[in-house]
Amino acid sequence: MILISGRGSNMASLIAAKLPATICAVISNDPAAKGLATAAEHGITTAVVGHRQFKQRADFDAALAQAIDAHQPDIVVLAGFMRVLTEGFVSRYRGRLVNIHPSLLPSFTGLHTHRQALAAGVRVHGCTVHFVTPQLDHGPVIIQAAVPVLPGDDEDSLAARVLAEEHRIYPQAIRWLCEDRITVTADGIVRIAGARDAAGALLSPPPDA
Ligand code: GRF
Repeated sequence: MILISGRGSNMASLIAAKLPATICAVISNDPAAKGLATAAEHGITTAVVGHRQFKQRADFDAALAQAIDAHQPDIVVLAGFMRVLTEGFVSRYRGRLVNIHPSLLPSFTGLHTHRQALAAGVRVHGCTVHFVTPQLDHGPVIIQAAVPVLPGDDEDSLAARVLAEEHRIYPQAIRWLCEDRITVTADGIVRIAGARDAAGALLSPPPDA
C-alpha cells in the first residue's frame, strides 16, 4: 500500500523496482495528485480520501485507515504523503508504516528541507527512510543517502540531487522490509540482517588533491 499526495516519483521508483510484494493500492489525499494516473497506468488500484472533506484531522485519519484496511496491507509506504498523521493512526500501523524524508534526519524536519539546508550552510545534505512514530519526522532510521551541497545550488538543484538518491534508497528499504530482514531494538535502532557495511566518506568540499 502506497500513500501519495503529488507527483509520485518515489512511488514510480517503487513500482519500477519490481519488489517481492504486490502494491495492493495507491491512495492519495488529493484528487489532483499526478501520481494517481501513473499508478493507474500500471494497473494498480487507486483511491482518493480527500482531506478537505474532513474538519477534524482524526476524522480524516479514520477514513484513511478504513480505506487502507480494506486492502489488508502488510506495509504502508508514505511516498510524498504530505499530511501530518494522528498518534492513533500511527500506532495502528506501528512497525509497518514507513516514510521518506528529504533530509538527513534528525536535521531539517518539516517542510522546505532544501531551503533549510541552504540557509544552514551545511555542505552535506540527503534523505532518510524511517519508520513513522507519532513525533513528526522522527522514528527509527532504516537507510540514509548523503549528497554534497554545491556552491551554485538553489532549492531546485539540491532537491533534484537528493531526489535521485531517494529513488535509490526507498526501493532498497522496502525490499529489506519485504524480505523480513529489519528489526528495531528497544532503543529504536534499526538492524538489517545481511546488510553490508558502508565504506568511504563524502568530504564536501573535497580537500585539495
Ligand atoms: C519527496 O522529496 C519526498 O521525500 C517528500 O516529498 C517529495 C515527494 O516527491 N516527502 P514524489 O511525490 O515522490 O515525486
